[in-house]
Amino acid sequence: MEKIVSLCKRRGFIFQSSEIYGGCGGVWDYGPLGAELKRNLRSAWWNCMTREREDVLGLDASILMNPAIWKASGHVDTFADLMRECSLSNKRVRADHVEAQSGNALRFTGAQLGETPSGQSISMEQAICLLSPQGEHLESARKRAKEAYLRRHLQTQNHSWNDEQIRAAVSKVELQGETSQAVQQSVDFHPETTGELGPARPFNLMLKTFLGPTATLDDPTYLRPETAQAIFAQFKNVFDSSRVKVPFGICQIGKAFRNEVTPKNFTFRSREFEQMELEFFIRPDEAVEIICGEVAKWSEGADLSQPQPNWGWELWHRYWVEQRTEFYRRIGLGDVLEYYWQSEQDLAHYARACVDILCEFPFGTEELEGIAARGDFDLSQHQKHSGKPQEVFDEELKNAAAKLSPEQREALIAKRLAAEQSKTKGEPMPEAEVRAWFERLFKGNFVPHVIEPSAGLDRMALAVLAKAFSETEKVDEKGKKEIITVLRLHPRVAPIKVGVFPLLKNKPELVAKAREVYALLKQHMNCFYDETASIGRRYARQDEVGTPFGITIDFDTLGEQGPELADTVTVRHRDDGAQQRIAIKDLLAYLLPQVQ
Ligand code: GAP
Repeated sequence: MEKIVSLCKRRGFIFQSSEIYGGCGGVWDYGPLGAELKRNLRSAWWNCMTREREDVLGLDASILMNPAIWKASGHVDTFADLMRECSLSNKRVRADHVEAQSGNALRFTGAQLGETPSGQSISMEQAICLLSPQGEHLESARKRAKEAYLRRHLQTQNHSWNDEQIRAAVSKVELQGETSQAVQQSVDFHPETTGELGPARPFNLMLKTFLGPTATLDDPTYLRPETAQAIFAQFKNVFDSSRVKVPFGICQIGKAFRNEVTPKNFTFRSREFEQMELEFFIRPDEAVEIICGEVAKWSEGADLSQPQPNWGWELWHRYWVEQRTEFYRRIGLGDVLEYYWQSEQDLAHYARACVDILCEFPFGTEELEGIAARGDFDLSQHQKHSGKPQEVFDEELKNAAAKLSPEQREALIAKRLAAEQSKTKGEPMPEAEVRAWFERLFKGNFVPHVIEPSAGLDRMALAVLAKAFSETEKVDEKGKKEIITVLRLHPRVAPIKVGVFPLLKNKPELVAKAREVYALLKQHMNCFYDETASIGRRYARQDEVGTPFGITIDFDTLGEQGPELADTVTVRHRDDGAQQRIAIKDLLAYLLPQVQ
């Protein structure tokens, strides 16, 4: 991971945000090559999810929204991590991220400082507890306790001692009432400060801001923690303005913000990141049954290539897992994916199923994307909270329902009532509500259900960089060993597609021809022109940033070895170093299908 982080900085993929001011926790900037890489991933996703499909539309909504949206979605009340606070330093840590430690828990009833720089003596009476980890000299832990006492006192008194004054005073603090108790594998101490942790409390992850000149602390707006809610909030506008029918989807790419407690693993868990989300709206299974007479069941090996009218949520969900897997194959991640199907216990009460697509990262196998079948929870919540109907009218459903006998209708209702009663999570829907829901359904009205594939762009970029990173040892002509880095990025996502090199920079004919080739290709793809250093060095520089093709313009190109090679170039392949001769006029036809 360190090597990847270092390459990213050295070659301009990813920089720490605000680095010249010491950084900004959990926030990253993409340099010239990172910006291209992200743009390529974004386009690959956008093309695959909407441009190449007839049933998905795009949206580009604002980051700021009416805070009522986050109340309706449940984020205000439940989008929280459980946190514990260090009693010495007030530093917080995620309750489920505390590593177990063994050692001696040292407790003190108070402390005394004989003489401060201003000649006073200070008595500090509160009790504190910290861990002296196994193997540590107790004196070190006592020193931490003294400093903690002092800093806490200074904080309460608003003193502004500098570090040197504090250091000098620490040695003069006398601890009182020390007791020690051995602890084994305890998760009650902060992993960095060793201070005892307080009880777990929810900490909302949404970032607050204040919109307009009159907003106060009591009426914050939030930076969106996901792009999905804007899709739900604009569902009706898109539906009414786009002449679509359910099933169809709305997708969006955009920034999301979460005040992550422990941002970590480079860009993997950041506080500002980009999501690529699709909400695919489908008929409820009951509507499918009324129209088609049955809901197709999923079984291993089911044909998921073409959506069918008799698909219910389960097959749609499986279909999207398959579609998303195919996307990852297209960007070169096909062989590093795993799937985690959430168990009944993991699932939210409204969710039918959720699968996490996991990917191998240098720090372990972690989530890249989640694909959830969320029922009609989201639109129903917005319908309830906004008072605006989110139902659609389905003519086909109304016509099919009109042909049902009263017994058939009653059988459908009875089936749903039985399903409600056997729910293991959430409250069953009361019978009157079930009947009212069917009344509307028989008239062709329903709130669509949704399948949500939700991916993170920054995680995807990190995943392709990690997968592509490779090092090989090379021995040069003088026998000197060198480690060569090659980024084996898929040509579709590589930031630079082609490096264009005149063999020599001091031959104007070579340079002019190379510039001509560069100008030709540049209109269609990101290229890099380089005439400095040896040709081997120039290849290596491009290998390191993942450029899949190197084009060299040499004396053959100028026709000096005979007219048959005139206006041909050498195309070198990054991954195996293979070279082939291609006519300049055929270059675009050769390269474009591989890089688009
Ligand atoms: N609307 C559903 C949703 O937001 P999520 O699992 O919280 O679901 C979806 O997020 C994806 O967004 C994740 O799979 C991940 O790729 C990305 N993501 C979430 N939190 C992130 C973070 N703090 N930093 C980077 N990417 C993140």
